[in-house]
Amino acid sequence: MSTHVCVCNRVTEDEIVGWIQRGVVTIEGLGEYCDAGTGCSDCHDSLEELIEDFQTDEAASRPAPEAPVGSR
Ligand code: FES
Repeated sequence: MSTHVCVCNRVTEDEIVGWIQRGVVTIEGLGEYCDAGTGCSDCHDSLEELIEDFQTDEAASRPAPEAPVGSR
């Protein structure tokens, strides 16, 4: 079971970590790809922590992946 990091948009930690590992390493980027952090902003600190914990140098130097079609 995965907890919701972003309660506003019901985005789970697993989902967020998945995007970070695919190279989405900014809060703005996560908002774009999975809507995390686009509501009340209370989760921004948690998002930053996850980005710090899970981003890799390789991911940071890679262009962000294409937004998935129909993922919302
Ligand atoms: S909890 Fe993420 S924007 Fe409100």
